[in-house]
Amino acid sequence: MTPIRIVVPTGALVVLIGPSGSGKTTFATRHFPRTHVLSSDEMRAIVADDPNDQSATEAAFELLHTALGLRLAARRTTVVDATNVERWARGRLLAIARRASRPALAIVLDLPLDLCLERNTRRPDPRPAPAIRRQQRWMQGALATLEEEGFQPAWWLRTPDEVDAVEVVAGG
Ligand code: CTP
Ligand code: MG
Repeated sequence: MTPIRIVVPTGALVVLIGPSGSGKTTFATRHFPRTHVLSSDEMRAIVADDPNDQSATEAAFELLHTALGLRLAARRTTVVDATNVERWARGRLLAIARRASRPALAIVLDLPLDLCLERNTRRPDPRPAPAIRRQQRWMQGALATLEEEGFQPAWWLRTPDEVDAVEVVAGG
């Protein structure tokens, strides 16, 4: 398959979008330095000692948004590794990028639901299947709106082969 080149301008916001099990953390680890990635799970661990403690979500995102604003103001490329399937959640990230006058791009990992569910069952800490189905539905709702929301561009990856074909290129 021909490479899919994703150019990431210096200091851009990169929003990963996809249900649990779609491979966001795997993708971020493969393509970006560790310090560029802000993950909701890691933020939950910082505030509550447990990456899966859903009761820590509000505090975790407060921390994530603060770190994002500080990084973008310093023109540091930043990847947000969270499901980001709800428009309002993406809107908060976009507002932070706008305040810092930084570009925002989206990368959607729209893999088959069965694959996400199957990967989920193999994890040591599986998420509830209904939650993954719901996230998948919400993600589909983003298909028509990502660019009008302010993501320029929005990449929509639909197969494991497409995901594997991605090359991230740091742009000027
Ligand atoms: N995985 C895989 N092959 C890939 C990508 C992921 O087998 N190409 C596996 C990972 O090893 C992991 C699971 O699928 O066990 C979920 O991948 P992960 O990157 O953790 O998915 P996320 O989208 O980050 O899930 P979450 O939202 O729950 O953090
Ligand atoms: Mg993850």
